[in-house]
Amino acid sequence: MRVLITAGPTREPLDPVRFISNRSTGKMGFALAQAAEAAGHEVTLIAGPVTLPTPERVTRVDVETALEMLAAVETHLPQADVYISCAAVADWRPEVCSPVKLKKAGMDGVLKLVRNPDILKTIRPLKGNRIFVGFAAETGTPEPEAERKLREKGLDLIVANDVTAPGAGFATDTNCVTLLFPDGRREAISLRSKLEIAQEIMAKIATLR
Ligand code: PMT
Repeated sequence: MRVLITAGPTREPLDPVRFISNRSTGKMGFALAQAAEAAGHEVTLIAGPVTLPTPERVTRVDVETALEMLAAVETHLPQADVYISCAAVADWRPEVCSPVKLKKAGMDGVLKLVRNPDILKTIRPLKGNRIFVGFAAETGTPEPEAERKLREKGLDLIVANDVTAPGAGFATDTNCVTLLFPDGRREAISLRSKLEIAQEIMAKIATLR
């Protein structure tokens, strides 16, 4: 299969020195790319700003903002059989990005934000026979929100991730997640390395074909 994966955060600039972002390091998404490649798939990895090396034989596309990530997904989706949206895409961006450093004296402490597009919802009309997999990063019991996102985003599988659970979520080398399917099935994967979680997710995706 040809697998398209997004990973890492997006960075939404306010001026040349400041940005809004989140705690994603890309580890989960890069583990998925490594696991998919090792399973014999052709992998394209769209990465937000992260410091990780590219897994061997994986094609990497670097982006910074949510709008750049959306454009890259739209470019590469037609060649993909599977899209895995692991990136922590910023939901908001500053309304204006100043071309020069903002001066403290000229700022009034109010930052006007505008919504970024939801990448999964935007590309939903292009789904066709492709498998779409999302993640749901939540604080606390993630399943109810994951269930809603599974339906609203028209996914074949969502990976519910309680980012406050010990050893799970952002920046850790391990994770524990629950897989939710549109037919109501739920499968928990207990704490293990992100690579092992990624291997399990890839094995599950193979059964959806
Ligand atoms: O990168 P690490 O440090 O290893 O951390 C891993 C992780 C915690 C980032 C990862 O496991 C994870 O949970 N990724 C999803 C993060 C997220 O943004 O979740 P969400 O619940 O806000 O979004 C739901 C889904 O919609 C996700 O598939 C997301 O990629 C997608 N989305 C979100 C916003 C947006 N504007 N467009 C999107 O497509």
